Amino acid sequence: MPHSLPHTPGPIGVFDSGYGGLTILSKIREHLPRYDYIYLGDNARTPYGTRSFEVVYEFTLQAVTKLFEMGCPLVILACNTASAKALRSIQMNDLPRLDASRRVLGVIRPTVECIDSLTRSRHIGVLATAGTIRSESYPLEIQKLTPDIRVSGQACPMWVPLVENGEAQSAGADYFVQKYMDELLGKDPAIDTIILGCTHYPLLLPKIRQYTPEGITIVAQGELVADSLRDYLQRHPEMDRRCTQGGTCRYFTTEAEEKFKESASTFLREEVTVKRISIE
Ligand code: DGL
Repeated sequence: MPHSLPHTPGPIGVFDSGYGGLTILSKIREHLPRYDYIYLGDNARTPYGTRSFEVVYEFTLQAVTKLFEMGCPLVILACNTASAKALRSIQMNDLPRLDASRRVLGVIRPTVECIDSLTRSRHIGVLATAGTIRSESYPLEIQKLTPDIRVSGQACPMWVPLVENGEAQSAGADYFVQKYMDELLGKDPAIDTIILGCTHYPLLLPKIRQYTPEGITIVAQGELVADSLRDYLQRHPEMDRRCTQGGTCRYFTTEAEEKFKESASTFLREEVTVKRISIE
């Protein structure tokens, strides 16, 4: 175990490649306001969605290690791409070496657990980054729980750049929202439930709703991840005791602080103080 890892109780770490994880963080804080949190965005290297397995794994492991060094006993990968491409390897290969008593959790499992009760047609769609779709993580996880459900995936490579560049409400976004929605529904017209499998996509929700036919349920992850975390902490009192409860949240980014502050306020609708750090 590295000497540098502190063993006193600490905040819950929330990691994303950029700003998208803020949609998860705000729901977690709404549901579990008493805990302390550290948010880390690897904004200098976002997006992860187009990167290879090796690179997403390497970057995510750096982030997790940094959050451990900052005192987090528990880290949530609030990024589908990192959850799809790095979570399993980190849990299996790196945690035992870094500190077997800490935990890293992802966002895919809590999302797919609700699907069974939502779909009537048993045909669902997943909208996500190219990396998440290519990893097949959603169909594989859904297959384990509900093998009768047919899953169609649609990569939406333009959506993260639209959100990251503050264009989620612009007229330009309409074109790409309609395009990917049409492509998904063209693959399987019986879809009655659509998972937003990327933490950035809730920012496009008004436009996504506009191009979704009546009767289709859209599933955003924030509430699901927050519920699942609450449940996890209840089932693991030994971890709960290690998470400090001061109600604070600190923000860290690998990019320029000014840039993060400006964009984070559109995600959180409040001013944040942020510090730039290096995680390499
Ligand atoms: N937020 C990431 C996710 O949920 C996508 C952003 C990226 O491509 O880095 O998949």
